[in-house]
Amino acid sequence: MPNSFHFAKRTNWELSSNQITSFVDNLKKENVEILNLTESNPTKCGFRYPKRILKSLYDKKNFFYAPDAQGMLETRQAISEYYKTKNINVRPEQIFLTSSTSEAYSYLFRLLANPEDRILFPHPSYPLFQFLGDLNDVGLDFYALQYLDQWVIDFGSLKDLITSHTKSIVLVNPNNPTGSFFRMYELEELNGLCQKNRLSIICDEVFHDFSINPHENHLSLINNKSVLTFVLGGFSKTLGLPQMKLSWIVISGPDDLVKEASARLEVIADTYLSVNTPVQNACRVWLKYKKDLQSQILNRIRNNFSLLKKLFSSNSPCQLLNMEGGWYGVLKLPLHYSEEQIVLDCLKEDHVFVHPGYFFDFLDEPYIVLSLLPQEAIFEKGLTRILNRVSINKP
Ligand SMILES: Cc1ncc(COP(=O)(O)O)c(C=O)c1O
Repeated sequence: MPNSFHFAKRTNWELSSNQITSFVDNLKKENVEILNLTESNPTKCGFRYPKRILKSLYDKKNFFYAPDAQGMLETRQAISEYYKTKNINVRPEQIFLTSSTSEAYSYLFRLLANPEDRILFPHPSYPLFQFLGDLNDVGLDFYALQYLDQWVIDFGSLKDLITSHTKSIVLVNPNNPTGSFFRMYELEELNGLCQKNRLSIICDEVFHDFSINPHENHLSLINNKSVLTFVLGGFSKTLGLPQMKLSWIVISGPDDLVKEASARLEVIADTYLSVNTPVQNACRVWLKYKKDLQSQILNRIRNNFSLLKKLFSSNSPCQLLNMEGGWYGVLKLPLHYSEEQIVLDCLKEDHVFVHPGYFFDFLDEPYIVLSLLPQEAIFEKGLTRILNRVSINKP
């Protein structure tokens, strides 16, 4: 790159691939079969997708374009009916469609923060946040989630981070990869903090339908009344259809703030009009397959989590951390391991690919993170190899 040319500083990322990615690429080039326990793309995990999902795109209605900044009313009504099945009341006026949850974050950062402003994110959590912050010129501060047999917000660390530049607190409910849902007592404390410091809440609930325990109902922040709140959802997880690109924001809070936020958000959305018409027209039909698609995914994550519990029981060298929902499991390794080393050893010696904890910014070491989506046979084979490796490598 000629050194006289200056790209925008916000794109000054480390672009070269790390040791782990290079190693995976080399194994792929050599056609080595890898047991990929990081696979979280549902379209690569052997689920059956009904053909009607595709047929619903073949529709004359798709020749017409009648843009609506918020998203087509019919589509928002279908999403409001989806929430009704969860016993949550959402009016179509509260919904804004976006093409992805990442785009929803971008709209909200643009709505809420000036370049000198800051937004609070949980740690550990998923790695895209840093890029979303950089791209939207927003500073990120990270509050800690603490593991006390369950993951909970460390309110001490959160309060210490709030300054006059803090604009919003991001929650992920359940969080990726810790699988922890948000609790009522946490909501009460959080609402108090937000009211006192005039903050908003962005709550990412893309994994909300995926509870490990089928009998547990978990809190949703939709219709949180006392604080301006934006809840994010989308088909990439709800229906396991990331390629279809349909997500949404649900707004709630004090009436005057909701009104002003909606008017401003409408201008942002109108500038891009990014959600395509065929997907909006198909939304209602696709939601008819929710039960089928979700039960396949739920069976998979429940089966794989049970297997994790069986193999990594109390007398194993690793500790399986409790999780309540989502698509990931977390193992804490014995202290003498380095995350990088175990991930590289698993790849080199066992051809098993897992994520190191640092990928998700765990605050201590050593952890590995496993996707619960791979087919059970692959998952079991990979786990058995990991268990053998940690059992051989005792200090
Ligand atoms: C918690 C969470 N939110 C949002 C996303 C991105 O979703 P989308 O594909 O809708 O952009 C991910 C992706 O894995 C995620 O883990």
